[in-house]
Amino acid sequence: MKIIIIGASGLVGSHCMDLFESVGEEVVGTHLNFATERTIYFNPLSNSNGNLDLDQFKPEVIIHCAALTNVDYCENNVLESERATVLSTKKLVNYCKKNGVKLVYISTDYVFDGNMGPYTEDAATNPINIYGQHKLKAELLVKTLNNYLIARITNVYGEEVRSKNFVLRLIKLFQNNEETELNLPADQFATPVYAGDVARMLYKLILDNKNGIYNLSSSDYYTRYSLAKRVKSYFPDNEKIVLKSVLTNKLNQPARRPLNGGLLNIKFLNEYNDFKLSNVDDFISKMIKYEL
Ligand SMILES: NC(=O)c1ccc[n+]([C@@H]2O[C@H](COP(=O)([O-])OP(=O)(O)OC[C@H]3O[C@@H](n4cnc5c(N)ncnc54)[C@H](OP(=O)(O)O)[C@@H]3O)[C@@H](O)[C@H]2O)c1
Repeated sequence: MKIIIIGASGLVGSHCMDLFESVGEEVVGTHLNFATERTIYFNPLSNSNGNLDLDQFKPEVIIHCAALTNVDYCENNVLESERATVLSTKKLVNYCKKNGVKLVYISTDYVFDGNMGPYTEDAATNPINIYGQHKLKAELLVKTLNNYLIARITNVYGEEVRSKNFVLRLIKLFQNNEETELNLPADQFATPVYAGDVARMLYKLILDNKNGIYNLSSSDYYTRYSLAKRVKSYFPDNEKIVLKSVLTNKLNQPARRPLNGGLLNIKFLNEYNDFKLSNVDDFISKMIKYEL
């Protein structure tokens, strides 16, 4: 299968690239600002993309992982967020429509308001910040295609060149053991998921040519604070890092956060009942073992 991964220099895209290449698929992965050895530059909004000619490669599937993902930055830079998240999706939707290509769009539980989570796929959307509004706008564009998949995820962790994700940053912090005090929200609930599992779930859905919305989550259910405590429990001798629980409304974050967020994976597991999901303990144990 010929697959293009837009945003393969990021967390989810790089794990998809690892998996799809390892099973022998013909994959091209792209970056925007963070060039990696195995990705090529691609800006969906530009007409001159040098090294990647979609018409020449003729993808059968495009996995669209690209978005402006810093939620507070999006709140303060609405037009930039709209361009990166909505307009880039519009371009890709138009390409897929014209060429009969399947589009896999990676979305988020931030399309919900966080009053009633964790959510099923058909729950009513109601985003409460710019990032969530733009992701929902992009979802609606994707839904105009006949052949699409919207995969909603949240709180993704995993091995990552830039070590941006919360769990990996915490593990490194505890390993480095420097005096630090962290104020972490104890009232933002979500369902963290391993990026490698997201890639495996996506691959199954693509192979079976599934359509529609799927939540890709694990059965873990944590707040930032409880997740950090979980990581800390693997470093019992570390007293230098102090975790403080705070309420979201005391953090003065520019963007509002859905509090009871998270995603239920009942639909996916009903269709793939032998699928083995990992959890955050598996990842922490693995990272400690290999001291990455
Ligand atoms: N990580 C999470 O916890 C999480 C949760 C919910 C939903 N999601 C969604 O999952 C997707 C992937 O997230 P991630 O965590 O892998 O993000 P990430 O690590 O920040 O990676 C984002 C990727 O998108 C590329 N990109 C950003 N803006 C772009 C643009 N305007 N045009 C082309 N490429 C662009 C980035 O390229 P460069 O870095 O090279 O510039 C990078 O490859 C995103 O759509 C995000 O909204 C993620």
